Amino acid sequence: MDASSQHTNERGRGGHGGHLPTIIQGGMGVAVSNWRLANAVASQGQLGVVSGTGIDTVMVRRLQDGDIGGHIRRALESFPFPDVTKEMLRRYFLPDGRPDGKAYARVPMATHVDGSPLKRAVTMAANFVEVFLAKEGHDGPVGVNLLTKIQLPNLASLYGAMLAKVDYVLMGAGIPLEIPQALDKLSSHLATSMKVDLIGKLEAGPLMATIDPAEWDGASLGPLQRPAFLPIISTHALGKVMLKRATGSIEGFVVEYPVAGGHNAPPRGGGGGLDERGQPIYGERDAVDLDAMRALGMPFWLAGGSGSPERVRAALDAGAAGVQVGTAFAYCDESGLAPELKRSVIDQAVAGTTDVLTDARASPTGYPFKVVTLSGTNSDEERYQARTRVCDLGYLRDAYTTPEGKIGFRCASEPVADYVAKGGDVAETVGRKCLCNALMANVGMPQTQKGGEVERPLLTSGDDMDVIRRVLPPGRTNYGARDVLDYLLSGVAGAR
Ligand SMILES: Cc1cc2nc3c(=O)[nH]c(=O)nc-3n(C[C@H](O)[C@H](O)[C@H](O)COP(=O)(O)O)c2cc1C
Repeated sequence: MDASSQHTNERGRGGHGGHLPTIIQGGMGVAVSNWRLANAVASQGQLGVVSGTGIDTVMVRRLQDGDIGGHIRRALESFPFPDVTKEMLRRYFLPDGRPDGKAYARVPMATHVDGSPLKRAVTMAANFVEVFLAKEGHDGPVGVNLLTKIQLPNLASLYGAMLAKVDYVLMGAGIPLEIPQALDKLSSHLATSMKVDLIGKLEAGPLMATIDPAEWDGASLGPLQRPAFLPIISTHALGKVMLKRATGSIEGFVVEYPVAGGHNAPPRGGGGGLDERGQPIYGERDAVDLDAMRALGMPFWLAGGSGSPERVRAALDAGAAGVQVGTAFAYCDESGLAPELKRSVIDQAVAGTTDVLTDARASPTGYPFKVVTLSGTNSDEERYQARTRVCDLGYLRDAYTTPEGKIGFRCASEPVADYVAKGGDVAETVGRKCLCNALMANVGMPQTQKGGEVERPLLTSGDDMDVIRRVLPPGRTNYGARDVLDYLLSGVAGAR
């Protein structure tokens, strides 16, 4: 048995028979932490996490690319609602792939809070497929990562993942107070609602998103496993709030530092402004109080710059159950990143020339977003400015009320005139980038837009990109998920 499969913790409650993983392979959207990566990690006994963000678009693009290997079709065959399976294949599967230069057919964007029946079905099926494939062939634990902020698809995503018996749900980018109850209800196939943030007010009261499993006769399947819920937080104070106000049980926390890849929590209290490169300045108020975390009495994992055996050891010594690691896994063989992007970044890491910018403006969510400087990608400001703005995926749109009292959706990265016509402030659009399209390009599925413009990637990673060099086995220029686990656990093997 190798180091990675030996070391798990036995303390506390967990989603997997009381065994807590020491390593959580962080959820990385869109489809960077895909089923292959999560499967590779989970089959070693650590927690493999698929990203459920935007996975509906990923699934329909994989089908349109011919479903190489037949994995999507194999998973869909096990999907418990055969009418949905039939519909997915009829609409999206192209046995010979797309003709060159042809645009991908899109999943409809939500035009009202609950989306269309098709949107719900694709979201549910795609999350099922990803978790099903991640769980195939072993009995290790698998989680799904969703962004609290992307509210509209979340209930359908959770239900789909639960239909595939997901063990853990991990959610950050917002305060997921309503999720525990949603998990309880969905495990009994009950209709479930969640409040949707709205810019403006509705006379009828709060805006709610709802899913009702009766739409597919879900209850006929019998009760589903209720996954363990791990909110991703940036301070112990937020952990305290979650424990006090959440609508049901929480099984632990991931505590994410601002050096972590992807979106980051903004500095507390507005922070110390921006540095000369436009990066938010974090201060003492952002420090995580590990004593206070321990005092919450829940298992916790430290995320962000935890990619070394010394950091894993230190986390355990500080009372953590382990660590969550992203960047090291993002560039391993099994991850979904396009091979040429992996190659370029690994080469840069070996040469010691990587650069990561914490961009305070790029993400339309308003959260800081870490961007890898890489030529040929949208990190190049001038190139990005030459892109025609378009909003055709729409995951990051905000709901707002129109002067007529209706609900509309807008994104600060959409065409500026559209955003302003929807009542948005032009200042909000400055420096914003289309993450939806760029993140699809990162995993080799760029849209070909009208006029033939092909969307370009925009990579994100944590500040510690040197982890890529450290994790590379001697004499090798690529590495697998197993290499990452063996490296991380090399200081704690067998130390239960
Ligand atoms: C490419 C990439 C994409 C990420 N996407 C997400 C995401 O969709 N949701 C999320 O909660 N965290 C996301 N993260 C954060 C990771 O889950 C993890 O917490 C973080 O990478 C840990 O820090 P590290 O990169 O220093 O290891 C992402 C990280 C990377 C590198």
